[in-house]
Amino acid sequence: MTAHHDTAPLAGISAERKARLLSGRNFWKTEALEEAGIAAISMADGPYGLRHQSGRHDNLALFDSDKATCFPPGVAIGSSWDPDTAARLGAALGREAAAQGVDVVLGPGVNIKRSPLCGRNFEYYSEDPHLSGVLGAAFTRALQAEGPGVSVKHFAANNQETNRQTISSDVDERTLREIYLPAFERVVTEARPATVMASYNKINGVAASENRWLLTEVLRDEWGFDGVVVSDWSAVTDRVTALKAGLDLEMPGGAMGHDAEVIEALRSGDISESDVDASVARIAALARRKVTSAVTVDEDAHHEIARQIAQECAVLLRNEHQVLPIPAGARVAVIGAFAGQPRYQGGGSAHVNPPRVDQPLDEIQAIAAEQGVTVSYAPGFTVDGPRDERLVGDAIAAARRADIAVVFAGLSEERESEGFDRDTIDLPSPQVELIREVAAAARRTVVVLANGGIVSLEGWHDEVDAILEGFLLGQGGGRALADILFGRVNPSGHLAETIPIQLQDHPSWLNFPGEQGHVRYGEGVLVGYRYFATSGMPVRYPFGHGLSYTTFETRALSITRTGVDSATAHVEVANTGDRAGKHVVQVYVSTEAGPVRRPVRELRGCAKVQLEPGETRTVEIDLPRRAFAYWDIAAGRWVVAPGDYRIDVCADANTVLRSSALTLEGEHVAVELTMDTPVGVWFEHPQVGPDVMDTLGLTGAPVTEEQLAMIASMTMRQFIGISGLDISTDALQALMTASRSA
Ligand code: BGC
Repeated sequence: MTAHHDTAPLAGISAERKARLLSGRNFWKTEALEEAGIAAISMADGPYGLRHQSGRHDNLALFDSDKATCFPPGVAIGSSWDPDTAARLGAALGREAAAQGVDVVLGPGVNIKRSPLCGRNFEYYSEDPHLSGVLGAAFTRALQAEGPGVSVKHFAANNQETNRQTISSDVDERTLREIYLPAFERVVTEARPATVMASYNKINGVAASENRWLLTEVLRDEWGFDGVVVSDWSAVTDRVTALKAGLDLEMPGGAMGHDAEVIEALRSGDISESDVDASVARIAALARRKVTSAVTVDEDAHHEIARQIAQECAVLLRNEHQVLPIPAGARVAVIGAFAGQPRYQGGGSAHVNPPRVDQPLDEIQAIAAEQGVTVSYAPGFTVDGPRDERLVGDAIAAARRADIAVVFAGLSEERESEGFDRDTIDLPSPQVELIREVAAAARRTVVVLANGGIVSLEGWHDEVDAILEGFLLGQGGGRALADILFGRVNPSGHLAETIPIQLQDHPSWLNFPGEQGHVRYGEGVLVGYRYFATSGMPVRYPFGHGLSYTTFETRALSITRTGVDSATAHVEVANTGDRAGKHVVQVYVSTEAGPVRRPVRELRGCAKVQLEPGETRTVEIDLPRRAFAYWDIAAGRWVVAPGDYRIDVCADANTVLRSSALTLEGEHVAVELTMDTPVGVWFEHPQVGPDVMDTLGLTGAPVTEEQLAMIASMTMRQFIGISGLDISTDALQALMTASRSA
């Protein structure tokens, strides 16, 4: 399936010269080879804004990058549940890249949020592969339509920062296929990204950048990827093994590259010129992406886009007594340092240098002035400081005088970033204390949160009336939050990850961040809500949860078949409240069919729809064969098990609104029986099974259920030896032959 690029322009160029194209020229640029018409292209982070360094270069964002719009990070886009929102971001970022002469944007990041502690969760979308894949594909299509390419990252199973350069993610095959690879698969097969970035970590002991199974067998041969595989920055240790595995471009380059190893391997015959040519041809094809058109970016227009995207992302978690939206004429006390110094983006390579940032406090004051709302402000705490009694006292006094206290709390950049993981999901204790004291003093209390990874709401949740989880909303987030608080925008974000009651309840808890160089993905496919919903473990807020100022009803669900093992769900939804709003239809599939344990339900489709008050719409969600399939490790492919399936339309992963059943034909995976196959497997074999009792001479014999159960786990060879029965070898042989042709 792998596409081959034209190698003709490379004729006559020495192997050594070509080998030098296999690593970058410096931190951000590739090598040029003018004789062959290959231009140097430039790359820049990242997923939610450009970190283009035309001055000093570095990896850690120690040096400032050129000014660029800071859009909402992945955590926010995930919460939008909206491919159109991801696409708006992609398109805007694509234009900024073109304007700054950036040919490849290093994003999107579609890794699964396996643990809430991962320091880079702010950059990733979700704990669910469907949602991550749909958003990543929409982003990629829209960005690349503007000219530049993307680098979908970090491929693969890079789900923590602790020891990220050396850790081995030990993941079983089904879990890789069902949880950690599908978002990449969707982006690659549906959106054709220019490049894929191989991650730092190892997968089952083999470095991603040296992993031939991952980079060639899965990515190219199965998924048909024909772009460039680029290493994460400094991820390559053994360049020759990486090249053989399918890693085309090592980044960065210059003194940090390993071209000499490639040249030496060419001399010794360890690799051939054609190995080099294949990668060089792909790099040459990438170089043709070089952006040439002169694009200018309207900074104000992009600021407005950043605000509009942010409006889609904030999640209203709680709204008792309909305290929100803030009514006209109310007296509001804004409390918390984050109102004046908002946390709006993450730290590390994704860090953006925005031209301006909306302050929630300013935006609240501006709208309040128009609505006859009076606003007082007290910081209450410093962003990362210890408790300050004077600040607390002022805040409580302000809360007492107000009808509604709005507390802006959250995590500072020091507490979460690329490069390290958190060890707690708690808010800093001075903030928790302040929230409780304010809630005790104020008539009504609203908490607005700013954090990249989820935070615990325990210890204060029940004491406040409303919680608006903003996550990180980019440079326009301050305005978007104010719009939502005053009801100018109806909140429509939903959680893309579960908020547990305590960290210890989380399925990753026992195996994070690993030890002695290995992290065992012990929860298997039961990641995030798949575990919570299956085990019945209570959570604070489930995956998919999100409130609105209006009310929606899911009125009807019907299923039509579109093929042997595929269907479409038709879901009728209505806005039954008195405001326009956006509703997210969430469709999950469940089954107990087949030989593997399935999560109680899995998200297989979603759509965000705008509904006017009183409006009803029917939303169609496609459920292709893959929506019903599991990865069968014996067959080495996706299999739909024959049997009964349930389609649940849900408000969140735990709350089913409508349900419908269907039976699928599926396929029995033929098991080839041998003398070393357990007798139980012989019994269950769909074709041969009914004849096994007879062949063994057990029909009518006085065998109890318990004895049969014991026999079932013996291999056929062991059973024949132990039973002393006179069993015809020819008859068994005939059954084995029949099992192979099944
Ligand atoms: C990060 C990548 C980033 C690259 C370039 C690496 O450390 O893991 O996500 O694109 O640096 O800055």
